[in-house]
Amino acid sequence: MLHTFFFSPANTTRRYALAMTESFGWDSQLIDLTHGPCPVEHDLVEGDTVLFLAPVYAGRIPPIAAELFRQIDGRGMKAIVAIVYGNRDYEDALLELADIASEDGFEVVGAGAFLAQHCIFPKVAQGRPDEADLAAAADFIRRAKESAGLDLSTIKGNRPYKEASTVPLKPQTVEADCISCGVCARECPTGAINQETLTTDNDLCISCCRCIAVCNSQARKFKGIMYATAEKIFRAKNSRRREPELFF
Ligand SMILES: Cc1cc2nc3c(=O)[nH]c(=O)nc-3n(C[C@H](O)[C@H](O)[C@H](O)COP(=O)(O)O)c2cc1C
Repeated sequence: MLHTFFFSPANTTRRYALAMTESFGWDSQLIDLTHGPCPVEHDLVEGDTVLFLAPVYAGRIPPIAAELFRQIDGRGMKAIVAIVYGNRDYEDALLELADIASEDGFEVVGAGAFLAQHCIFPKVAQGRPDEADLAAAADFIRRAKESAGLDLSTIKGNRPYKEASTVPLKPQTVEADCISCGVCARECPTGAINQETLTTDNDLCISCCRCIAVCNSQARKFKGIMYATAEKIFRAKNSRRREPELFF
């Protein structure tokens, strides 16, 4: 059986998780960790394979996701790891995820870096994953399934990993469009949005864009002069199309 563990506030990693799970062709279960832990380790039995997927935040695995992945007990089972990034760089994130799986006790047999529309700057890599990305994801899974093992030192990235950092830009509510349905507060992975007042605690907010992805009224947005300036600079620097990178 294949067990796919993923963290995906803005849903692009989720799209890869679904596509890869389908390509694997085994009985499978998808375990969405976006909202916290899920006590399923006991379902893992010898001969199963695990697939871990996470987005890249500032060149690393989001700490909240890393913490959840660290709680899974590998017991020598095979693991495939994949990260999804927004066309800037993935730096040490893929190596970090492979290391986490290995430290959990899994034997890592494949690692891949994939592209998606940047959730903070959605004009960057807009529309990705596209058909070519999903074909690459299917090819990755086929090859990882056949792989006997992966030397983690061949994965791009450095140890020690780059220092973790946060993004100063935070989504805000457009009051005129907000219908106070509270979905943003219920769905926020860090509980940063107050359930009653719907105000955001910027210290808890990790800028993950979950609130933007789940708001049916498009009432959560990045706005202001600081965002507009950052967006222009980011887009100018990171618009060249990047392609998936695979390691077996
Ligand atoms: C806080 C934060 C930091 C990010 N840092 C990077 C980065 O270092 N490099 C990059 O290319 N994309 C970066 N991104 C973009 C995400 O990796 C990309 O949008 C990814 O598809 C999000 O996955 P999701 O849709 O499953 O949430 C960042 C996004 C967020 C929210």
